[in-house]
Amino acid sequence: MVRMDTVITRLDAADFRDRLPEALGVYVEAMGYPPQVIRTRAAAWLEHSRRVGWSGYAAFEAPRRRLFGPTTGPLVAICYGYHGSRGQWWYGQVAEGLRARGLELPGDYVELTELHVSPAHQGNGIGREMLRRFLAERPEGTVMLSTPEVEDEDNGAWKLYRSLGFGDVLRDHRFDGDARPFAVLSRPLPLDDGEAPR
Ligand SMILES: CC(C)(COP(=O)(O)OP(=O)(O)OC[C@H]1O[C@@H](n2cnc3c(N)ncnc32)[C@H](O)[C@@H]1OP(=O)(O)O)[C@@H](O)C(=O)NCCC(=O)NCCS
Repeated sequence: MVRMDTVITRLDAADFRDRLPEALGVYVEAMGYPPQVIRTRAAAWLEHSRRVGWSGYAAFEAPRRRLFGPTTGPLVAICYGYHGSRGQWWYGQVAEGLRARGLELPGDYVELTELHVSPAHQGNGIGREMLRRFLAERPEGTVMLSTPEVEDEDNGAWKLYRSLGFGDVLRDHRFDGDARPFAVLSRPLPLDDGEAPR
């Protein structure tokens, strides 16, 4: 159950661009990256927001007082993705890994590109609820994502994805320019009724 002091809202791409510095701030904090990463990722996130089928959700702290009309509190979580297609960097990187195994990417998938909750707000159901809402409105037949490998799949991201039924596509996959091993995971859409909000 999401705590009452947080509000989850659908973002359109223009809202997302307005909120970009805040969203990137949550990203570096959640991933434990140095703040300089905000600058290096900004152009990529902007470009993502212009891709076909972009959609996103954010969570905000609810305002405590409304003396001057409705306001939103700080952004505390971000979730977005877009329609996957040939020509995208991620598509190419995953296609190469699959080709080595004689496999191909599905023809119709959404890439869950980013999902991050600021550390102070983790473990309150925000990530699960944002992801559930994001997936509920996607027209594609499959969702795919990549996430860093961690020992025994022991972090919030792995637990969340496994609990939603994500299965392995690639393990210990190396993306160009990143020394870390990643897993590529996927699951068919839509989510089942049994995976309604908790
Ligand atoms: C992964 C992440 C988005 C999940 O969001 P969240 O709001 O913390 O997660 P939720 O509270 O919705 O919990 C979802 C599930 O994740 C697991 N989980 C979440 N936080 C956890 C934690 N600290 N320890 C263990 N499991 C955890 C639980 O299995 C939980 O399932 P439950 O609902 O049955 O309890 C968030 O933890 C995060 O931003 N992590 C760092 C950044 C990251 O790894 N992003 C994904 C990169 S691919």
